[in-house]
Amino acid sequence: MTHEGSNRPPAQISGARGGLDGIIAGHTSLSTVGVSGVGLTYLGYAIEDLAEKATFEEVAFLLLFGHLPNDSELSKFRVRLISQRSIPEPLCKTLEMIPAAAHPMDVLRTAVSMLGTLEPEKGFEDAVRVAERLIACMPAVLTYWVRFHRDGTRLSSWSRGDSIAEQFLWDLRDRSPSELETQAMNVSLILYAEHEWNASTFTARVIASTLSDFYSAITGGIGALRGPLHGGANEAAMELIDRMSDSAMAERELLAMLARKEKVMGFGHRVYKGCDPRSDVIKPWAQKLCRATGNETLFAISETIEHVMRREKGMFPNVDFYSASLYRSLEIPTALFTPIFVLSRLTGWSAHILEQRADNRLIRPLAEYTGPAPRAWVSLEERD
Ligand SMILES: CC(C)(COP(=O)(O)OP(=O)(O)OC[C@H]1O[C@@H](n2cnc3c(N)ncnc32)[C@H](O)[C@@H]1OP(=O)(O)O)[C@@H](O)C(=O)NCCC(=O)NCCS
Repeated sequence: MTHEGSNRPPAQISGARGGLDGIIAGHTSLSTVGVSGVGLTYLGYAIEDLAEKATFEEVAFLLLFGHLPNDSELSKFRVRLISQRSIPEPLCKTLEMIPAAAHPMDVLRTAVSMLGTLEPEKGFEDAVRVAERLIACMPAVLTYWVRFHRDGTRLSSWSRGDSIAEQFLWDLRDRSPSELETQAMNVSLILYAEHEWNASTFTARVIASTLSDFYSAITGGIGALRGPLHGGANEAAMELIDRMSDSAMAERELLAMLARKEKVMGFGHRVYKGCDPRSDVIKPWAQKLCRATGNETLFAISETIEHVMRREKGMFPNVDFYSASLYRSLEIPTALFTPIFVLSRLTGWSAHILEQRADNRLIRPLAEYTGPAPRAWVSLEERD
């Protein structure tokens, strides 16, 4: 009935409230999150510098290869990404079969899985190729599915736009984006690229630690990112803002939500306690775009929500909150907000999978048992 002489080490509980709160679960050299005096860095580079000075492609290279590319490395990397944008015919067919009403996160999850059957990883030495392929083609996957179901277009040429930011906006909206729009998209992709051992990255690393394949780890990461407590918060924030017609209503509704003890999506963070540095970067871009596109009311409502949250709860917006008004000003449908997070975070997940594999040990923690005490078996006939 029970096993005697357990070899199990004494259990340690992961923080008073569970959720591995405050527990260091492993090592990474990829980013620092909320480290006092350091802030958010990718391989030592401050997020503020990267957002102001880098392209998303430079950041992707940095994460995959551990250093900023020189001129020649960057141009070769860009050429590789552009040459791998196109999606194979069976994947196009799969995308056409996925219902128009499906959530685009489910589309991306399915597409990564499908691509894994068409172009499987051929051993771990093939991992960087797979990572580059996914970073290169997933924007096309998303826009293919959207355009097919929206207007019957079967996108077939992937040459529009020199960067992922430009290509994505161009293919999605079927018009060349302005310089400001491309820059804003670029900044947003950089901010979402990497964030240490968050839930989706942890998921990807757990899968990688079993020596499973690259596509499985990415598919799991997408599943974890989908929830509103993680990546899904940018969509939930937009849905909240959309319910408000002006700032006065936002003030009233927010107070009512807080009185009902409802969570306001796009606020708070497990690690950051005073501010999310990504929000300070994205907010001015959101403001600039809202102004340029006549979305001043949207921005005013967002700021009112921020003020109420600071005043009433001492809470600050995280990266997802102002991403919402930024994406709306770019005329991106709300359901694509979290999928954009995927297009960016593919870089961070890939880097973590590579890092996990380079020094792997199966991730397998313990749980504290809270079930019934050992008891005797009851046969079917004897049960109530
Ligand atoms: C991100 C998040 C999950 C981290 O939370 P956490 O460390 O697990 O903290 P908890 O959810 O346990 O919340 C702690 C307290 O703050 C409150 N709180 C946390 N986030 C809140 C929010 N966004 N709105 C209102 N109250 C919030 C909780 O209600 C809880 O209050 P209580 O102690 O009175 O019950 C949480 O802040 C959240 O749900 N935010 C909204 C979702 C979101 O924006 N996610 C994206 C993160 S980048």
